[in-house]
Amino acid sequence: MKRPFGTSGFYWILSYAALAMASTYYEPQSTIALTIIHAGLTVSLVILTRVIAPGPAAILDIGNMAALIWIFYHDAGRGFPVILFTPLITALVIIRAHKERVNRRIYVWPVLPVLWAFAAFKLSGCAYSTGLTCSFSASFIMLFVFLAVRLRAKYPAIRSIDVVLSSYSGNTEHFTDIFIQEAREKGVNVRVHRFHKHKRFKADLTQESLVVAFPVMGWKPPWPFLTYLVLKLPRGHGKPAFILYTSAGGPENAGALTWLILALKGYRLMGLNWGMYPLNMAMFRLGPKRIWDRLDSLLPDTRVLPSQKECARAFIEGSPSGAPVILSPTPLFIIGALIDNFLVDTVLCHNHIYRDRCVKCGLCARYCPAERLRTKNGYPYSRGECALCFGCVNICPNGAMHLWWLSEYGNKYRPRWYDKMIARAES
Ligand SMILES: Cc1cc2nc3c(=O)[nH]c(=O)nc-3n(C[C@H](O)[C@H](O)[C@H](O)COP(=O)(O)O)c2cc1C
Ligand code: SF4
Ligand code: SF4
Repeated sequence: MKRPFGTSGFYWILSYAALAMASTYYEPQSTIALTIIHAGLTVSLVILTRVIAPGPAAILDIGNMAALIWIFYHDAGRGFPVILFTPLITALVIIRAHKERVNRRIYVWPVLPVLWAFAAFKLSGCAYSTGLTCSFSASFIMLFVFLAVRLRAKYPAIRSIDVVLSSYSGNTEHFTDIFIQEAREKGVNVRVHRFHKHKRFKADLTQESLVVAFPVMGWKPPWPFLTYLVLKLPRGHGKPAFILYTSAGGPENAGALTWLILALKGYRLMGLNWGMYPLNMAMFRLGPKRIWDRLDSLLPDTRVLPSQKECARAFIEGSPSGAPVILSPTPLFIIGALIDNFLVDTVLCHNHIYRDRCVKCGLCARYCPAERLRTKNGYPYSRGECALCFGCVNICPNGAMHLWWLSEYGNKYRPRWYDKMIARAES
C-alpha cells in the first residue's frame, strides 16, 4: 500500500502544520479574525462537499467545526488551537484515504490560499504570520476539497503527448524519462521537445496532450522557461496537461504557479508530480565534500520514483493523479523571483574562468543553454543573459569555471547523468 499523499506530500503536510502552529502561537491577538475567516471557508467547504461529492473531506468538516466551536467558547484569545486540529484532521483523512486507496487523486486549487491570505491581511490587519498561517491552513483545506471533487473525475484516454522538457544537470530529464517510458510502453506516441538552447526553441505542439517538465529555480520554474510558459506557450483549448518537476528541497511554489499559468491558458490540468533530487547549485553546497557526496548518493529517493509510472498510467487513462499542489506565500517566493530575472541574470551574474585550470576544451560554451559563453583564443568569456543554470560550473572537468560570487565557495555538483549533459552540449 502506498502512502496516501506520496512520501513528499506527506512530509510537507506535516512540516507545514508545524510552521502554521508556530506562527499562530506567536500571534494570539489575531485569533478571532483568523477564526472568522476559517469559519467562512469551512462553511463553503461544507456546502461544496455536500453538493458536489461527499467523501473523505466530510471528516474535515466535522473536525473543523468541532475545533471552531471549541475555540469560540473556551479559548478565545489564544491562536494555538485554531491550527492544532489541522494535523489531527490530516491524520484522520490520511487514515481514511489509506483505506479507500485514493492516494493518487489529491489536488489543491492554488488560488484559494492566496485569496484567503489576502483576506486575512485586509480584513483583520493581521501581521504576516497570521496571513501565512491562514494560507497554510487553506492549503490543507484545499487538499480535501480537491480530494472530494476530483476523486471521481474521468476523461477520455490519451494517445499522444508533447513533452516540453527543461533540464540542466539531467535530474529532471531522468525523472521525466520514467514518465515517458511508461507512456511509450502503453503504446502512446510521445514527442519530446528539449527546451535547452532556449533562445532558438520552437515547438510544434500538435499532439493531443502536453507535459511540461522543469527544475525548480528560486521556488519557481527557471526564468527562461517561465517566460516561455507565459509568453509563448500556445493556448490549451481544453488540452489535458501534466506538470513534472524536480527540486532539491520541497514542492515549492513552482508547481502551483505553473498550474495557474496553464489553467489560465486553457489547459485541463490532470496532475502534477515532483521528485527530490540533488542540489545542483554550487553556492549552497558548503562544507565537506564528503558530506555532499553522501547526500547526493541518497537522492533521488527511489521510493518516490514509482509514483511517476503511476502518474503516467493515470494520465493516459484520463484520470487525475499526482502530488498535492500547495501554494506557500512565504517571502522566499518573492525572493526567488527577485534573484532570477532578466536584469539580475544579465548584470549581476558574471562568469569567472581560472585560466591556469582551463584546458580550453570548449565544453562549457557548447553546453550553455543561454548561448552566453563564447571562446576567444580557446578561453571562454561571457556576454548577455545567463540562465543561472550552473551548467558551466558543473560540467567543467577541471573546476576552472565559476559564476562570480555564486559558486566560489561551494562544492560543485558532479551530475549523476553527466553523459546526458555532454550529449546535450554536443548536439
Ligand atoms: C539557480 C538555482 C536555483 C535553485 N533553486 C532551488 C529552489 O528554490 N528550491 C529547490 O528545492 N531547489 C532549487 N534548485 C535545485 C534544483 O531544482 C535541483 O537540483 C534540480 O533537480 C535540478 O534539475 P536539473 O538537473 O534537471 O536541472 C536550484 C538550482 C539552481 C541552479
Ligand atoms: S569547460 Fe572548463 S576547461 Fe573546458 S573550456 Fe570551459 S572553463 Fe575551460
Ligand atoms: S553561463 Fe553557465 S550558468 Fe549561465 S546559462 Fe550559461 S551554462 Fe548556465
